[in-house]
Amino acid sequence: MEFLELSQVISIAMVMLFLFLSGRILFSCWITPTLVYQKLRRNGFGGPTPSFPLGNITEMTEKNGGSSLKSSNITHHDIHSSVFPYFARWQKLHGKVFIYWVGTEPFLYIAEPEFLKKMSAEVVAKSWGKPTVFKNDRDPMFGNGLIMSEGDNWVRHRHVITPAFHPTNLKVMATLMVESTTRMLNKWTTLIKSGRPEIDAEREITTTAGIIIAKTSFGMSYNSGQEVFKKLRALQVTLFNSNRFVGVPFNKVLCPKQNLEAKMLGKEIDRLLLTIITDRKKSIEEQRRPSQDLLGLLLQGSRAVDDNPGKSLNTQELVDECKTFFFGGHETTALAITWTLLLLATHPEWQNQLRDEIREVVKDKDHDLDADMVAGLKKMGWVMNEVLRLYPSAPNVQRQARGDIVVNGLTIPNGTNIWIDVVSMHHDPALWGEDANEFKPERFKDDLYGGCKHKMGYLPFGFGGRMCIGRNLTFLEYKIVLTLILSRFSFTLSPTYSHSPSLLLSLRPRYGMPLIFQPL
Ligand code: HEM
Repeated sequence: MEFLELSQVISIAMVMLFLFLSGRILFSCWITPTLVYQKLRRNGFGGPTPSFPLGNITEMTEKNGGSSLKSSNITHHDIHSSVFPYFARWQKLHGKVFIYWVGTEPFLYIAEPEFLKKMSAEVVAKSWGKPTVFKNDRDPMFGNGLIMSEGDNWVRHRHVITPAFHPTNLKVMATLMVESTTRMLNKWTTLIKSGRPEIDAEREITTTAGIIIAKTSFGMSYNSGQEVFKKLRALQVTLFNSNRFVGVPFNKVLCPKQNLEAKMLGKEIDRLLLTIITDRKKSIEEQRRPSQDLLGLLLQGSRAVDDNPGKSLNTQELVDECKTFFFGGHETTALAITWTLLLLATHPEWQNQLRDEIREVVKDKDHDLDADMVAGLKKMGWVMNEVLRLYPSAPNVQRQARGDIVVNGLTIPNGTNIWIDVVSMHHDPALWGEDANEFKPERFKDDLYGGCKHKMGYLPFGFGGRMCIGRNLTFLEYKIVLTLILSRFSFTLSPTYSHSPSLLLSLRPRYGMPLIFQPL
């Protein structure tokens, strides 16, 4: 038997490795997507024709001619075609359920509540996945926190976290919310007195919501909270303000600068949060008296299952959850309040109605506002529901199939990503009537679903077992901040406001929200 020379063995191994890697790349980037594409077509799903390797990204990133309205022209709120112009276009051609492609990733688009109902009836919360392509891409922001976790891991996280958001635990946060908001409003009074009544409400409220979440959730000072927020905002801009060809094979190589920047920022945020968690753990051990903020409750929750090995959250998981609360916990609520101010500025009759209600329910106890008191603000609740309908802070909900799902005899293959267009459903006249794009809070008067013809047509906080865990915290903060603003000021829209709702993960006013405030 002849022995091959060492160099020949290495060469053969290299060739085999090359063939193996090329095969894998070809398989995952070309063959698998093509097979899925053909399967979806055979199963009756239409949609725009994708190209390789970009899918439909080119059409999705086409500029839309900068459709912004001047403040005097905001009479109705038909925002779908400016927020998602490509979906609005494709809907006209392919209906409310179709397939589109982000790179080599197939996405099932859904803006049809009945289809969504049937599909979600087939899958329990635990068996839903979250798009792997986004999980990898957004890892520096959410890690494996609740938003991105799946299966038994998700069950464990949700089990530990749920008690922290119980209304009884949130009650103690009301005082901190009142304090932080009052500080912001005192600053507004000073600005107005000095002849500067125009204030960018978005920036102000986002900062205050940040302070609130930093204090109520982590007992953090303004300065350390600011450091985390600055980095989170920079990370958000890096991840969502440019086309990084997410979903396209080797996109990380195509955009190395942004990806490296995102990774570094993620690591810096992790380091900051890790210090907080370690300090807190130490202080709990020393004092044996846990704080009642979210982190304290999370650590307690985690310790409660410590006896059950493998059930508690480890330190990295705690860091990921804190990141999730930090980001998810302030921006969405701040945007809900910001859009509310826009709608109230353009509907002074509703400002007055809410003020009357505040006078009736809160009387002159606005410095002692608590959860029970604000729960009595019913009309404010309708206004919040209506604002989240017209301007949902979270404009879409995502899932990924972790097994074949059959709906109406059509098979959605394992691995298909699912994109639910909340903006479209919330503005659909077929679900809400011809006044779908008008601000009418009274539609929620005697109906939790605002008269929507289908219960799955109104999803500001998502659906099923994965519904937003922080909504009680939002209700409390929204009502406290709005009550305090309305008790001290009336406001109108500044002529400099330009109406251009845009996406940066959440739905935000592209040019801020300048309002003119007058003390009452
Ligand atoms: C106006 C305010 C808010 C809106 C519109 C909102 C919206 C949403 C939506 C649409 C989802 C996805 C649900 C699904 O996949 O079905 C979600 C999930 C989540 N939200 Fe919120 N949210 C808000 C406030 C908050 C707050 C204040 C926190 C925490 C402090 C929070 C933490 C989370 C978490 C951890 C999840 C993941 C839940 C899971 O997958 O089990 N959210 N939220």
